Amino acid sequence: MQHLIDTDDLSIEQIKTIFKDAYSFKKQLPPPLLRQRLIITLFFENSTRTRSSFEVAAKRLGAEVVHLDPAKSSTKKGETLEDTFENLCAMDPDGVIIRHSQNDTPGRLADMELTPVINAGAGNYAHPTQALLDLFTLHEFFEGELEGLRVAIVGDIANSRVASSDIRLFKRFGIDISLVAPKPFMPVTELPKYEKIEDVIDEVDVIMSLRAQLERHKKPIFDDYEEYASRYCITEDLLEDRSILVMHPGPVMRNIDISDDILDDPRSLVIDQVRNGVFIRMAVLKHLILDSQ
Ligand code: CP
Repeated sequence: MQHLIDTDDLSIEQIKTIFKDAYSFKKQLPPPLLRQRLIITLFFENSTRTRSSFEVAAKRLGAEVVHLDPAKSSTKKGETLEDTFENLCAMDPDGVIIRHSQNDTPGRLADMELTPVINAGAGNYAHPTQALLDLFTLHEFFEGELEGLRVAIVGDIANSRVASSDIRLFKRFGIDISLVAPKPFMPVTELPKYEKIEDVIDEVDVIMSLRAQLERHKKPIFDDYEEYASRYCITEDLLEDRSILVMHPGPVMRNIDISDDILDDPRSLVIDQVRNGVFIRMAVLKHLILDSQ
């Protein structure tokens, strides 16, 4: 049984196979490979893209999807998450997709070895399918030439599970990563670090902007979002005519993370990332449910 807790669970060969399937699904939708399969989604944190993308992916493959709303589940009556999971597994799903605020929750459930577990975002540690779709979007744009690509990750890196998974995955494919953040948003790292975007702007091919998560900070670092945006928002004035691509995992805080004009600019890949997310998740579901059985 294979799980996807972080991208390290996949070998380079497996990732290449997932990309090959994603390209093929993007070109032409496949027959219902997961017909009569059942997938349960369990999102303990809010989600727009990941939950709907997984559901669309599963349905495009012909699977049935059941969503358990944790706010209305019996975890609210004191049932442990492990017991909830075991009870759901008694209904014989072919996989459970979970998002949770704790870093170790998906891994703990995977260790029970009852059904393939897919991490749809856990704490600040891992969001493997986001990292895969981010890498796939770069792979598509740069026609597979990832080695030596220069990516700056900008924003609240320390609190970002996307940054964390992107960094681990991108490094395996030879991508050079720089981090740009104010000191309190910077994780402990051996990667090149900058406080100002201007210090790295002429050295990068791609900027991965992250959502400013000022609400997560116990001690305010900026007086308000306007002050943060004045230093870290990706704007036309900042990029000028440089051919730098701009990415963001979403949700984007307009004019705080990325300006309106850059979101409408052909250099923005933000919507391409969402579109590719469905094909990557289709390929991940196929890999875990069909190919790894
Ligand atoms: N990228 C991402 O995880 O978005 P959602 O929180 O909307 O799922």
